[in-house]
Amino acid sequence: MSAVVIDGKAFAAKVRGQVAGHVAQLVRDHGITPGLAVVLVGSDPASEVYVKSKGKMTVEVGMLSVEHKLPVDTAEADLLALIAKLNADPKIHGILVQLPLPGHLNSELVINSIDPAKDVDGFHISNVGLLGTGQKSMVPCTPLGCLMMLRDHHGSLSGLNAVVVGRSNIVGKPMAQLLLGDSCTVTIAHSRTKDLAAVCRGADILVAAVGRPEMITGDYVKSGATVIDVGINRIERDGKTKLVGDAEFASCAAVAGAITPVPGGVGPMTIACLLANTLTACCRANGLAEPEGLTA
Ligand code: GUN
Repeated sequence: MSAVVIDGKAFAAKVRGQVAGHVAQLVRDHGITPGLAVVLVGSDPASEVYVKSKGKMTVEVGMLSVEHKLPVDTAEADLLALIAKLNADPKIHGILVQLPLPGHLNSELVINSIDPAKDVDGFHISNVGLLGTGQKSMVPCTPLGCLMMLRDHHGSLSGLNAVVVGRSNIVGKPMAQLLLGDSCTVTIAHSRTKDLAAVCRGADILVAAVGRPEMITGDYVKSGATVIDVGINRIERDGKTKLVGDAEFASCAAVAGAITPVPGGVGPMTIACLLANTLTACCRANGLAEPEGLTA
């Protein structure tokens, strides 16, 4: 293996430390405690694990953590009423509605009912539009975490060829916008892309966000490229459950210059960026300077 392994776990701990420092300062100098509300509808086990972890880390950085757990058959009107209440609550600066929502709820309607200034996921259509036009917005947490790791590793990204494999609204599209914002030449590739391997081999930065276990192998990677693996896939191997990314680690690491592992790469950065976004939202709401290095 020749690639540098980018330690997302350590990087995320550093980001959370920075957030905690800013929170302490906000409390001390202004008497303001940033507050994050997480809304979970139903009891999807994976979502419950995420929500618990988010709550724990929110408290650890000194923020107010509020959790609303609603039954799986919650009526849309009741969920919208809760969001309206959180929108109006001055103690709450960030609102996250855990996805996926049960099938009877209209996710777009629900997400777009969140005050865009409190939309710490960056999923509200206003934030999507602001990001797409290069204006100040709330930026989706996973792509923001990827961008922070790339900036840390490369310094400037200007002029680099970036290929994003995956076109989801949550990762692929905002990732491409952020890379464009940092002056990369950006290609969005996906399952229908012709000769995907050849397209990927043109990348200085290759972001794998397809949701298919170990689909990106070493022959997709240009020598010395940086591979950012957004995938989190549970697979059965040798009778055990294993967590793997969208990139096959060993063969990619043999060719790449740098690579994020799974677990311990992009994953921990997502929650760290959620906390960073909550801090940013709180600063903006109170007309205070935004923390440096924690936004796009
Ligand atoms: N479900 C899985 N990841 C996420 C996320 O980043 N935000 C929300 N709201 N739901 C999720």
